Amino acid sequence: MIPVTKPFLPPMEEYNKYIAEIWNRQWLTNNGPLVNELELKLKEFLNLKHLLFLTNGTIALQIAIKAMGLKGKIITTPFSYVATTSSIVWEGCEPVFADIDPDTLNIDPDQIEKKLKAEQNICAILATHVYGNPCDIDRIQSLADRYKVKIIYDAAHCFGTKYKGRSVFEYGDISTVSFHATKLFHTIEGGAVITKDAELLRKMSLLRNFGHDGPYQFSELGINGKNSEMHAAMGLVNLRYIRQILQKRKELSGYYSKVLKNADVTFVKLHDENEYNYSYYPVLFPTDQMTNKVIDELNKNWIYPRRYFYPSLTLLPYVNATHMPVTDLVSSRVLCLPLFHTLTIEEIDFIARIILRVQNN
Ligand SMILES: Cc1ncc(COP(=O)(O)O)c(C=O)c1O
Repeated sequence: MIPVTKPFLPPMEEYNKYIAEIWNRQWLTNNGPLVNELELKLKEFLNLKHLLFLTNGTIALQIAIKAMGLKGKIITTPFSYVATTSSIVWEGCEPVFADIDPDTLNIDPDQIEKKLKAEQNICAILATHVYGNPCDIDRIQSLADRYKVKIIYDAAHCFGTKYKGRSVFEYGDISTVSFHATKLFHTIEGGAVITKDAELLRKMSLLRNFGHDGPYQFSELGINGKNSEMHAAMGLVNLRYIRQILQKRKELSGYYSKVLKNADVTFVKLHDENEYNYSYYPVLFPTDQMTNKVIDELNKNWIYPRRYFYPSLTLLPYVNATHMPVTDLVSSRVLCLPLFHTLTIEEIDFIARIILRVQNN
């Protein structure tokens, strides 16, 4: 069986060493030494000023929205994982969808501008760097400045991506990331918020710890967003392998592109000023029938690509249904092909042969 992804698992002895230390210390959670060490090492590796390690990428989004006190409408993309929209609704705000660019699959700044002009009470833009490929950051920033709204980037897929030579996490008021086991850098479950703003950092660190401002004091309405020593340990071990992981994904993606060069597929346009992390290997088929045929044929051979993202988030039962022509078209034709550290060249050959066979028949 070839699944769309498999978690990276480091040598067990390395993880077990940390587990033994945890046993000796008997300190399992609540801002433990490994959580602190991971935060420091991540900031060092990514060259960031502030980062807070959290339970997952969804809580990261919710804490980001809460920390900025956002109220009202938030412009967002219909082409993302459900957590992007659900976090907005969970925090009592209303998502306003702006359609995506057909080439990059990221939220289209022209569509954002239309919504900024047409709607009242917009307080923020929540945009996803889809598949780890940066949005049109400069244009989104200039719109946010002009209309005086905040920016949160859902950078769940972006570990290792650079934009203009810096970590893409540095852009916007807050960026959030997921360290879920399916991500190229993971802590089993986990996530983080990143900001350059010391005051926002202080607020988010209160929010992640129930709003505790002392043992018996609560200065904010908080939540439990803390992560554990065991999760931090997995992150510390995985971080040792991150350069290899990034390099391997680059090579595997390059090989896919070589063997699929004669296939009738479209590739996502990557941002010019981007150092990409090869988080996913998405391809677009010319029709939804062709997409379904390819899925059927791959499944018959125990290969499981993922329709990611599908369907459009405008179809969620708790939002106002809106027709988004580009997203609707793209979500019915996009497939993320298997990509993970232990995927082999032979397996990619096999996947590509099946795709070419379906298309040539
Ligand atoms: C774009 C996007 N945002 C948010 C999330 C949520 O992250 P987590 O699973 O860590 O809660 C995901 C998870 O896959 C995602 O892909």
